[in-house]
Amino acid sequence: MQRKLLQTTHAVTAVIAPLLILTFLIATIVAEINGSLALIIMVKRDIAYSLLLLLPTMAALGISGTRLSNHQNTLESTKKLRMAFIAANGVLILVPCALSLYWLANHGLIDSRFYIIQALELTFGCVNLILIALSIRDGLKLSGHMPKQRAAL
Ligand code: HEM
Repeated sequence: MQRKLLQTTHAVTAVIAPLLILTFLIATIVAEINGSLALIIMVKRDIAYSLLLLLPTMAALGISGTRLSNHQNTLESTKKLRMAFIAANGVLILVPCALSLYWLANHGLIDSRFYIIQALELTFGCVNLILIALSIRDGLKLSGHMPKQRAAL
C-alpha cells in the first residue's frame, strides 16, 4: 500500500512537473511575440506564483523516486544524478530568473537585461525539460511499462 502510494505520487508528479514547465515556456514565448507589456507582466507574475506549485511538485517527484529506488540499478543512479542537476538548475538559475523577470517587468524595465535573463531562463528551462523527458523514459523502463532494450536485429 505504501509502495502503491509512492508509485502514484511519482507518476502523477512526473506528469504535472513537465506540463507546468512547458506551460511557462509557451506562455513566455507567446507574450514575447505579442509584445504587450500588460501580457508580459501577467505571464511573469503567474509564473512567479506558480513556483509555489512547481517547487513542491518537484520535491515530491524527487523524494518519491528516491524512496522507490533500491539503490542497485544503473538507471536509478542515472535518474538520481539527473534529478540533482535538475534541482540545482531550478534553484540556482530558473527560480532567480523567474523572480527577477517578474520584478523587471513589473517595473516596466523590458530592456537588454530583461532579454538576457529571459534567454537564460528559456535555455535552462528547455534543458530541464529534456532531462525530465529522459527520466520519464528511464522511469517507464524501471516500472516495466517500456522495454529496457530493443532486441538486436
Ligand atoms: C525528473 C525526475 C523524474 C521523473 C520525471 C520521473 C519519472 C518516472 C516515471 C514516469 C516513472 C514510471 C511510473 C509508472 O510507470 O507508473 C518512474 C518510475 C520510477 N522512478 Fe522516476 N522519475 C524522476 C525521478 C526519479 C528519481 C530521482 C528516482 C530515484 C532513483 C526515481 C526512481 C524511479 C523508480 C525506482 C521507478 C520505478 C517505480 C516502480 O514502478 O516500482 N525517479 N519515474
